[in-house]
Amino acid sequence: MNIIIGSDHAGFDLKEACRSFLEDLAGYDVQDAGVYNRDSADYPAIAHKVSGAVSAGEFTRGILICGTGLGMSMVANRHKGVRAALCHNLYTARLSRAHNDANLLCMGGRVLGVGIALEMVELFLKTPFEGGRHQRRIDLIEE
Ligand code: RB5
Repeated sequence: MNIIIGSDHAGFDLKEACRSFLEDLAGYDVQDAGVYNRDSADYPAIAHKVSGAVSAGEFTRGILICGTGLGMSMVANRHKGVRAALCHNLYTARLSRAHNDANLLCMGGRVLGVGIALEMVELFLKTPFEGGRHQRRIDLIEE
């Protein structure tokens, strides 16, 4: 599975923690789309870069982190085929996959602690989509 990850300045520290966590997990190829320091940055630029790559099928999953996760999720969900989930805990991270087949995880760097965020990332990557009635509902989103 290949993953593209990005953040603005407010998500930078958590993005760095997630990136090194992913690099240590076996079987994941990770690309860092920036930002690369804590200088103030506009979240839409990074969100379009990461979401566009997921939409184009270049990456299986994306992860976007800003202060709240809100701006990133708003931008990401404008991209065709992207199902971005703004998650706040283990339950929403697991259900974003099981019921919504989310392909992009958004988190708030000013909302979450590092420990829970890393567990959320692992759940997001490892939880399978349940399909069935949930597939029908996802098809209705596209319609
Ligand atoms: C930056 O201050 C903040 O507005 C941004 O990171 C994000 O939370 C926007 O949704």
